[in-house]
Formats: sequence, C-alpha cells, structure tokens
Amino acid sequence: KKRIAILTSGGDSPGMSAAVRAVVRQTLASECTAYAVYEGYQGLVDGGNMIKEMSWEDVRGWISEGGTLIGTARCKAFMERAGRLTAANNMIEKGIDALVVCGGDGSLTGADKFRAEWPSLMDELVSTGKRTKEEVKSHRHLNIVGLVGSIDNDLSGTDATIGCYSSLQRICQAIDYIDATAFSHQRAFVIEVMGRHCGWLALMAGVSCGADFIFIPEKPPSENWEAEMFSIVKKHREMGKRKTIIVVAEGAHDRQLNPVTAGMVKDLLSQKVGLDTRVTTLGHVQRGGPPCCYDRMLATLQGVEAVNAVLESTPETPSPVICIVENKIVRKPLLDAIAKTKEVAANIEKRDFAAAMRGRDAEFEE
Ligand code: F6P
Repeated sequence: KKRIAILTSGGDSPGMSAAVRAVVRQTLASECTAYAVYEGYQGLVDGGNMIKEMSWEDVRGWISEGGTLIGTARCKAFMERAGRLTAANNMIEKGIDALVVCGGDGSLTGADKFRAEWPSLMDELVSTGKRTKEEVKSHRHLNIVGLVGSIDNDLSGTDATIGCYSSLQRICQAIDYIDATAFSHQRAFVIEVMGRHCGWLALMAGVSCGADFIFIPEKPPSENWEAEMFSIVKKHREMGKRKTIIVVAEGAHDRQLNPVTAGMVKDLLSQKVGLDTRVTTLGHVQRGGPPCCYDRMLATLQGVEAVNAVLESTPETPSPVICIVENKIVRKPLLDAIAKTKEVAANIEKRDFAAAMRGRDAEFEE
C-alpha cells in the first residue's frame, strides 16, 4: 500500500487546489494513503504536522478554489543538501515514498534533483545513525511525478500549464474594464502583464482583446519600432478607434537586449502622438481568483494521471511530468521538458527567436 504525498511549490496558480484534490482522491480510490505537504518544500523540511494525512472529505470543494489551499513557498533550505536530508528523514518518518510536485520549472528541477540524490541521502541517514538499515530498506527508491502549475505557460512539451487559462481570462476581463474608461476619454493605456520570461499571456491577451501593439520577449521590437507603433496607432485612430491598448509582457523589458518598458511607451504616446496615456500594471490579480473550467478539468485529469504514473513507475523509469498535447494527457520525461525550457530561454538571450519558438513546441516522447 503506497503512501503518496502532494505538494505545491513556487508561485501559486488557479487550479493548484483542484490538482491536490484530484491527487488525494485518486490516491484513496487506488487504496493508497494520501498526504499533503503544507507550504511547499518548506513543509517537507519542517516535517511533523506540516505533512498531513488527507481524507476524501478534506479536499471537498477544492476544485473551484483559487490559489493553493495547502500553501506554497520558494524554499531556500531545500536548495541545500542539508535541507533535503532533513526532508528525506521526515518522509521516512511518515513512510512516504512517492511525491507529486505541482509547480513551475524551478520546483520540478528541485524534485528531480531530490530523486537523483535519494539513495545517497538514505546512506547518509544510516551512516549518521538517524535511521536504521531496516527503516530505509523499503525506501531505496523515491518516486517523483511533476504537474506543471504556473500562470506563465512557459514549460516546453505541454500545450497548457495549470492556471494559464484562468490568468488569461482575468487579464482579458481587466482589459475589457480598461477599454470602457479608455473609450470614454479617448485615452491610450499601456498594460503590463505577467509571464516572467514568457510572452504567452501577453500575446494571447493582446490578440483576444484587439490590442493595437504587443511587446513580448520572444519577438523584441525592430530597430524602428517607435515609428511602426506610431503609424499603427495613428492609423487605428484615423479609422475611428477611440482608444489605444498596448500590451507589454513583463519579460519584454527584463533583459538588456530588449529594454522597452511600459513607462517608455507611455511617454512616447503622450509626447509624440499627443495621446492622453496611462499605465496599468495588472499585478497579482492575474494570479488569484477561482480557476476557469479548463483549469479545473486539466488539474483533475492530470492529477489522476500523476497517481497512475506513480503506481506504474519502476526505479528505471525516468521521473515523468504530466503534460497535455493536442488535447491528450500524456507523460513526458521531466528532465527533457526542463532542459528544453532552459534551452528556449538561452535562445531568447542569443536572439535566436526561431529556435526559441521551435523549442517551445518541441516534441519529445516518454
Ligand atoms: O511565475 C508566476 C509569476 O506570477 C510570474 O508571472 C511573475 O514574474 C512572478 O511569478 C511574480 O512572482 P512574485 O509573486 O514572487 O512576485
């Protein structure tokens, strides 16, 4: 009878609680024992009642809850071997040998590192007298499965991450609200949206809301972007448009090669085009609130698949990450997905945008 734990880590995203619910309930339906680790990896390091056995009723109603009801953290202690050793000891204490981690690429990298190190952590627990040989005997292998929870939709190999469509919906709603006031005053608005190094949210929101111009890290502005933007904005105004919406991805200005900021665009529109312009940074409203139907479905189907992956895994199987590709829930090697994601970031730095886009859509099988 396996003991399977779930934790959520890194930035929260809508649908994480639904994923916890699905993992807990599929674990129980498979006649295994379910645990929730509170506050991300910090809970593994702290142990005790931060690792709680979960019942069917404990997760009732979680499918429609925003954020993550078991908490999340960006844990420094787990980045050190000493922290991971304590975490391993706490897991042995509870008899847990399978961990489902729902988070972004950083959290999933941490998970796989933990698994790779696991045998040596077991040896160290025995050699330092913290555990007996007998105690670690049935825990020689740690099972790790990743679920991608992030609003950014930035992981290669999956069409959508848990939370990205809820966030996109929230952004579009906010832009609709801004539209009304922009229209009334004939104003221009420069709207900064989240996404870290990925322009997916900005691009999709810009297209969905009929923005006049969009800045994303994957396609930095050309040499004459100012003239290009002015001519498009002016043309739209001449055609009778009473408002101007420019969407800027936060990642469009966090690197030297692409220094366009929302403030810069605002100044240009005010001074060179004569538009009364405001900047709106949407901030964390993009991350909170209940998940949309798609994210509830995605989290549920993927949570079920994560437990099935745990039950079918052997010490030889590489850690899987649960993805969605062309509407099908699939398993892919976790490390490949992370390596591809890092390659995309490196290609953006090198300004090889075609390679970056190919990497985002990369196909690799388990
Ligand atoms: O990764 C999710 C995300 O919301 C990014 O879009 C954003 O860059 C970052 O997290 C913000 O992090 P914090 O909540 O720590 O400010």
